[in-house]
Amino acid sequence: MTGLSPFTRQYGPWALIAGGSEGIGRSFAHQLAARGLHLILIGRRTGTLEAAANDIRERFDVQVSTHAEDLTAPDLDARLEALVAAREVGLMVYNAGATHGAGLLHDTPLEEALALVRLNCVGPLTLVYQLGSRMRARGRGGIILLSSMSALAGSGYVATYAATKAFDRILAEGLWWELGAFGVDVLGLLAGATETPAMARSTIRYDRSGTAAGQAAMQKLSIVPMDPDDVAREALEHLGHGPIWIAGEKNRATAERLARTPREEAITLMSEASAKLHGLTPPKRSGG
Ligand SMILES: NC(=O)c1ccc[n+]([C@@H]2O[C@H](COP(=O)([O-])OP(=O)(O)OC[C@H]3O[C@@H](n4cnc5c(N)ncnc54)[C@H](OP(=O)(O)O)[C@@H]3O)[C@@H](O)[C@H]2O)c1
Repeated sequence: MTGLSPFTRQYGPWALIAGGSEGIGRSFAHQLAARGLHLILIGRRTGTLEAAANDIRERFDVQVSTHAEDLTAPDLDARLEALVAAREVGLMVYNAGATHGAGLLHDTPLEEALALVRLNCVGPLTLVYQLGSRMRARGRGGIILLSSMSALAGSGYVATYAATKAFDRILAEGLWWELGAFGVDVLGLLAGATETPAMARSTIRYDRSGTAAGQAAMQKLSIVPMDPDDVAREALEHLGHGPIWIAGEKNRATAERLARTPREEAITLMSEASAKLHGLTPPKRSGG
């Protein structure tokens, strides 16, 4: 592979982005295409996937292959087998995984929680298993798993989502150690609030004023939405430089503060912020 950049030598020739048609995934797609990687984009909606792919083909001299798949499908392993075997994938970004609403666990259908577990735990594990083994055999490659600031502490209203994002973070850390020994870079990316189309469609509402009564938890957690391009850029800059990266200076400062905060207080802050973000009123708590 002479004549290739160090990035393409380590992570080329193909990058697979699970959830690559919008938001942070789309930003990864553009930035990876700019670095010369061919792209495999997965998402559910064909129209959105094709629009994203055409946009990239017009701007960059790379191949783009699109695949409409639901990453929560119970037979995901079998569905992806042929796809991952067809091309030499040197980089995998597992991006899809946002929660699109919030509510107390017992006020929402079990199926919603199970779907999040499939999307954020079973999905990344499946792709890591399929692609990671090939990367390990080649002695090069990279894997980025999208986690979240929600992985830093449990939170009411998004209890399952936060738990699945903690899974992604801890999985990335373990794989960073395991696969690092074979020349494969693994990064768990903790994103904070980010302005994506999925967030715009969800019940989340970011209040930029941060001054109204009841904003205390959000202010303490410094929830200021980031541009998805910046989140992807920071991740690519830090791939190969440690197991975890928290996107955004404010998020890194918040993570440090949370680590020093007593656990009960941290969980309460996260829960109040989740309620505020989704326009929910926390129930009165009994006991302590
Ligand atoms: N945005 C934020 O504020 C924020 C904050 C913290 C962490 N994050 C993390 O960043 C990642 C990206 O978030 P996002 O806001 O851009 O929304 P997202 O819905 O997680 O990602 C959007 C992309 O994933 C695809 N996708 C979603 N569900 C899918 C499924 N079941 N099967 C296949 N593809 C699927 C979407 O295409 P289709 O809809 O067509 O399937 C689209 O390409 C997530 O892992 C999220 O947890 C986001």
